[in-house]
Amino acid sequence: MQQDQLHCANKTLDLFRPGAHPKQPLRAWDAADEYLIDTINTHYPSNKLLVLNDQFGALGCALYNQIDTWSSDSACAKQSLELNLKKNALTLNGNICDSINVSTDSALAVMKIPKNTSFLEFQINQCITLGINKVLLGGMMKHLPKTILNLLQKFGEVNRLPFVKKSTVFELTLNNATPNPYPKKNTFYGVHLLSHANVFGRDKLDTGAEFFLDHLDKLPKANKVADLCCGSGILGIKYALTHKNSTTDFYDESFMAIESSKASWPLNPLVSEANYFWDDGLKNEDKQYDLILCNPPFHEAHTVGDHIAKRLFKQSKAALEPEGKLIVVGNRHLQYHQTLKKYFKHVEQIASNTKFVLLSAHG
Ligand SMILES: C[S@@+](CC[C@H](N)C(=O)[O-])C[C@H]1O[C@@H](n2cnc3c(N)ncnc32)[C@H](O)[C@@H]1O
Repeated sequence: MQQDQLHCANKTLDLFRPGAHPKQPLRAWDAADEYLIDTINTHYPSNKLLVLNDQFGALGCALYNQIDTWSSDSACAKQSLELNLKKNALTLNGNICDSINVSTDSALAVMKIPKNTSFLEFQINQCITLGINKVLLGGMMKHLPKTILNLLQKFGEVNRLPFVKKSTVFELTLNNATPNPYPKKNTFYGVHLLSHANVFGRDKLDTGAEFFLDHLDKLPKANKVADLCCGSGILGIKYALTHKNSTTDFYDESFMAIESSKASWPLNPLVSEANYFWDDGLKNEDKQYDLILCNPPFHEAHTVGDHIAKRLFKQSKAALEPEGKLIVVGNRHLQYHQTLKKYFKHVEQIASNTKFVLLSAHG
């Protein structure tokens, strides 16, 4: 876990970035967080705030005494905020909530610009519904969507503040809501799905998931199944449709993924049991499985790497019955075969093509 000091206004915060590999010099904040904090401290020092998409709790800790509501789609972000508040002996008087069930009395929102523009549009509409009249949106220049200015102008008047340390802040005064297609219905491989705005594969089936589904008939029969990193739940639902007696637990760190899986399950002819966990992998559940299905992420927001996959493989090893198996799909170049061997005695290839491999790990 990386630790560093953030100096802002009259405080110094010790901020931790959970999950970062000791060899990756990653901090819990970036220059865009600093810019948002400075803008609030300078121009809005006494406004109540709705904070959106704070990745590791830097905004939450720096602005803690002004926060009315802190909202995130990410369970990892929420856990980082709680950890960093505790490490700095701070108490948030406002609410901490997920990305869908948001309520607030504030009129000003502070947002870290998300990578996914569907989600960005969803959140700006959500702000309008909540009665917010101004949003300060911060981001690193290299991470900004190319269409950001046009996108924001659809919702109201935009003032872009000067670039500072390769980051910027947009002041958006809200006037218009725009139509948003999410949650959206899709059918992929005969599975009916309802996908929220921030769900992976919300518009089209991922090619890795497609490869996994092409070889689903090669998987063993199992009673207790986990769909780890479930997205809209495509892998777990498809498996349950062909193995009617299995129970399925869905895990994702995205709240919208969990809500999508929950809404998708009853759209399909299934009578078996399903459970849902919004969490950092299997971290907090003391459950054992015969089979874990996983199409792991290879990035955390803008940070690419296999640090999350490693964490998930390690957790899976601990959550499998002695004869249980973890089934993983991945791009060939990610070398999951080698990574899995660090945690499992046996790693077998179930299928491969020029781009993907499907692996089974046990023991
Ligand atoms: C490659 S997508 C797979 C989605 C879906 N299973 C599919 O095959 O289309 C990876 C998923 O992992 C989730 N994820 C990322 N980090 C996670 C973590 N630490 N714990 C649980 N899920 C995580 C993402 O939210 C995303 O839904």
